[in-house]
Amino acid sequence: MKKETYYVTTPIYYASGDLHLGHCYTTVLADACARFQRLAGKDVFFLTGSDEHGLKIARKAEEAGITPKEYTDQVVAKFKHVWSVLGITYDKFIRTTDEDHVKVVQKAFQKLYDQGDIYKANYEGLYCVPCESFFTESQVVDGKCPDCGRPVELMKEESYFFKMSKYTEWLKDFYQSHPDFLIPEARKNEIYKNFIENGVQDLCVSRTTFDWGVPVPFDSKHVMYVWIDALLNYVTALGYGTENDTLFQKFWPADVQFVGREIARFHAVIWPILLKALDLPLPKQIHSHGWITEKGDKMSKSSGNGFNSLVLADRYGTDAVRYWVYKDGPIFNDSPYSSELFIKTINADLCNDLGNLVSRTLAMITQNFDAKLPKCGPSLTEDKELENKLNHLYEAVKNAMDQQRVDIAIDEIFGVVRAANKYIDVTAPWILAKVDKNRLATVLYHLYESIRMVAVLLQAFLPTTAEKIFEKLGIEKDSPYRKLESITIFHTDLMDYTVHKGEALFVRLDVQKEVAYLTTPIKKEEKQDKQEKAEKPLISIDDFDKVELVVGKILHSEKIAKSEKLLKNTVQIGEEVRTIVSGIAKHYQPEEIIGKNVVVVKNLKPIKLCGVESFGMILCSVSADGKLSLVEPNSSMPSGSEVC
Ligand code: MSP
Repeated sequence: MKKETYYVTTPIYYASGDLHLGHCYTTVLADACARFQRLAGKDVFFLTGSDEHGLKIARKAEEAGITPKEYTDQVVAKFKHVWSVLGITYDKFIRTTDEDHVKVVQKAFQKLYDQGDIYKANYEGLYCVPCESFFTESQVVDGKCPDCGRPVELMKEESYFFKMSKYTEWLKDFYQSHPDFLIPEARKNEIYKNFIENGVQDLCVSRTTFDWGVPVPFDSKHVMYVWIDALLNYVTALGYGTENDTLFQKFWPADVQFVGREIARFHAVIWPILLKALDLPLPKQIHSHGWITEKGDKMSKSSGNGFNSLVLADRYGTDAVRYWVYKDGPIFNDSPYSSELFIKTINADLCNDLGNLVSRTLAMITQNFDAKLPKCGPSLTEDKELENKLNHLYEAVKNAMDQQRVDIAIDEIFGVVRAANKYIDVTAPWILAKVDKNRLATVLYHLYESIRMVAVLLQAFLPTTAEKIFEKLGIEKDSPYRKLESITIFHTDLMDYTVHKGEALFVRLDVQKEVAYLTTPIKKEEKQDKQEKAEKPLISIDDFDKVELVVGKILHSEKIAKSEKLLKNTVQIGEEVRTIVSGIAKHYQPEEIIGKNVVVVKNLKPIKLCGVESFGMILCSVSADGKLSLVEPNSSMPSGSEVC
């Protein structure tokens, strides 16, 4: 039988800086959906990626003195690291600089032009670079962007326009006939009122004042507006418009596209019209979530309150971050993050409720039955109540997940955890241990089965925890009792499984101490750096052998005018003299280092930093609190000597 398909997308993230907890919200949410539908037997495609064109990124790269592509390469490597730490199981990571994507976007633009949907005119209006968004005089607030509050720029140039107005009536009809296309209802109504009801405006879709974008195929002076390029990623990722569009045929239209609330309007107006104009079906649903806020403001890098989720994952485990996202995240409305709330949630739900249930049950099986799951006897009323809950758990979670309600699904699962804890209170197994071993066996059996069923479902939400629980329950990797089919009914024939109590699943945290740690002035980025360093994998001697380390002598050094951090050094390596740029200007004056022997990575690929080409790297040691010192071989060593 043909498997049902499920296509879920996140927005593609601007490759303009680091990801914070707010960004990670969408992706962790989408990951739970993808994992759940895979568990439920669907053929899933989960897409995420990076949005790499536009003025914002062009400017960032210029500041860093490198090309935009060099810049986005670096940022994308960091994105992928974050997704790997958070256990994100995407099927494809699309980059809008991918050649195939660019080609298809150009083809689509050409089609729109050929069919008369694109025309040339002059644009005069306001533009917010961080949001890559156009505004009229009446929309801006005191010269500032109504979305992010940063200053807008005046834009006056020849541009191509997308005739979106032509599709107004069609879009209105579409919203009438598809009331669930955009959720939540309140956001849909707001967007409908502001951007659709009184007629959709034509959209400026090209720029001439910079060149970091997809070139307009029929006019090389222009690059496309970044949102046209970006939105199309959801179909180009599937091979739409290429010779091999099997994935597109299989997965489009998407089942759900997650977007944050500030970008809902792009997905609610431009995206449907773009698809209609290209004669493509629309996604089944756009799910617009709220923001994670901190002290009342949107969590964002520019406000300086972008909390780094890697710091949390490093200290409390990935599943702690994932759980917080599902339980307390802004599924529709904004919701606040604070370190105190985070720690309290982890203590209450993961440590007390889930952790204690598992450790109490396994301790009792170990003490009373030699760690072997005992045989289940006849069920009494309180047992039947718990069985009934378990038998309905999957249905409840499935219903929630078919509507992407991860918050409800996790609450259903933890509802069973709470019910099982209550069952312990009611049945008092510590008394049964003294008076009725047969009854104790039945009670512990019910608890074991509750934990197992919870673990089966947690594979979609808290995969590391689920794995640990299965190990504790003695249920092996390929066991049918890890599969979804095994939880639609309470089993009474499991026997002889040997449990392993082991360490606690979650350690109880000291709220005050942890809040102090998380709010320490050490910058969150520094903590992230530390973690990235700590996480480097072991390498073989062959890997190490690829690095050519030599002694170099600094002949000259000077500051680079455009940068506070960089020194441009002239370094002698044996017969050869080369330029090496290093980020030590805050720690050394140029004259201090002239004449020093240093260790140089000789075979590093050249890179341009602040416009200066650098050939190699000078090694330094850096302490945890940021002190930096050059690694200096003995001054008697001739330059060019090998360091090994
Ligand atoms: N590049 C565009 C999306 C193009 S999709 C065709 C973009 N990128 S972004 O990096 O700025 O944002 C990516 C996602 O992160 C958006 O959905 C945005 O709403 C979300 N979030 C950014 N900060 C957030 C919070 N503080 N809270 C929750 N989500 C947040 O927009």
